[in-house]
Amino acid sequence: MIELINLYKSYQSKDNSVVAVNGVNLNIAAGNIFGIIGLSGAGKSTLIRCVNFLEKPTSGEVVINGKYLSQLSNSELRQTQQKIGMIFQHFNLLNSRTVFANIALPLELAGKSKQDITLKVNSLLQLVDLTDKKNNYPSQLSGGQKQRVAIARALANNPEVLLCDEATSALDPQTTDTILSLLKQINNKLNITILLITHEMEVVKNICDQVAVIDQGKIIENSTVENFFLNPQTQLAQNFVRTFCNEKPMPEISVEFQPEYSVGKNLIVRLTFVGDKVAEPLVTKLAKKFNIDASILQADIETVNEKTMGFLVVELYGDKQKTTEFIDHLTAYETSVKAEVLGYAN
Ligand SMILES: Nc1ncnc2c1ncn2[C@@H]1O[C@H](COP(=O)(O)OP(=O)(O)OP(=O)(O)O)[C@@H](O)[C@H]1O
Ligand SMILES: [Mg+2]
Repeated sequence: MIELINLYKSYQSKDNSVVAVNGVNLNIAAGNIFGIIGLSGAGKSTLIRCVNFLEKPTSGEVVINGKYLSQLSNSELRQTQQKIGMIFQHFNLLNSRTVFANIALPLELAGKSKQDITLKVNSLLQLVDLTDKKNNYPSQLSGGQKQRVAIARALANNPEVLLCDEATSALDPQTTDTILSLLKQINNKLNITILLITHEMEVVKNICDQVAVIDQGKIIENSTVENFFLNPQTQLAQNFVRTFCNEKPMPEISVEFQPEYSVGKNLIVRLTFVGDKVAEPLVTKLAKKFNIDASILQADIETVNEKTMGFLVVELYGDKQKTTEFIDHLTAYETSVKAEVLGYAN
């Protein structure tokens, strides 16, 4: 659906040049919700703006539905751009226009008749549940309502792709959830491919199928969202996952871990698992098999892309050989469980 081939974008100024997008290759399948996560300044906004040629890449190709954007005439490019909706962190609504008129704008620009516009805007208002606000002005709306207007506007020309640049970053957590469910609903119901960029793991966790990590303009990791949580490869991805899990309080394990084993110390491991395995039976079953005792110090169960994921910290009582066998078994045979030694504690 969307293919980015060796994409570069650099900005030149008098005395320096910044490479904001540095050789990005990505393939985004139709119907997917694809997230790109990165820190501030990583190149996220630049990259997403290159996808619809709001920003012209310095080199490389953007291919949408088989069309190379760089090879289109101006009018063909405009037609293709109409099929790519976009929403932004700060909504970008026109304050002088009512909700209705904001949503109508792209239809007016596309030369639609007044009757068609009224029909379409009314159905979009229903979709985003804002029919009662249609004659209000943006200044009279909450942040979440403004973003819903922006979503309706982005859908006006029946796009195949929706680009979201930090669409929930200006919203509180509860409003973020309602906007994310609306995006998911749009993806399901209208079969629109969604490419979103974010610095929030919550967004990735809640709605993405696939996630890529961008750092200094380069994609350094790209996987399904379950695998991203289970098995983050790069330091940056590990930090994202770790920070997300550590936001949950874990008072029980405030002890200092020792890196080396010594007699009388117990092994502390972090277990991450995905799928239908439930924390307690998994740990007790395996502990029994290896004849060791285990206690769960911390358990956090999350729904990641509609699948259950568990994040556990477990203390293992038993001699070094047995606990090592236990860890080896988990690592070697349980593909949906990841074990990571945190250290030893009393
Ligand atoms: N128009 C521009 N002119 C010059 N440099 C730019 C321009 N736009 C972006 N940059 C630079 O490109 C790099 C990437 O910026 P970008 O806005 O894409 O990052 P970002 O990941 O979206 O960050 P944030 O999370 O803060 O929004 C930064 O170093 C930025 O200073
Ligand atoms: Mg940005």
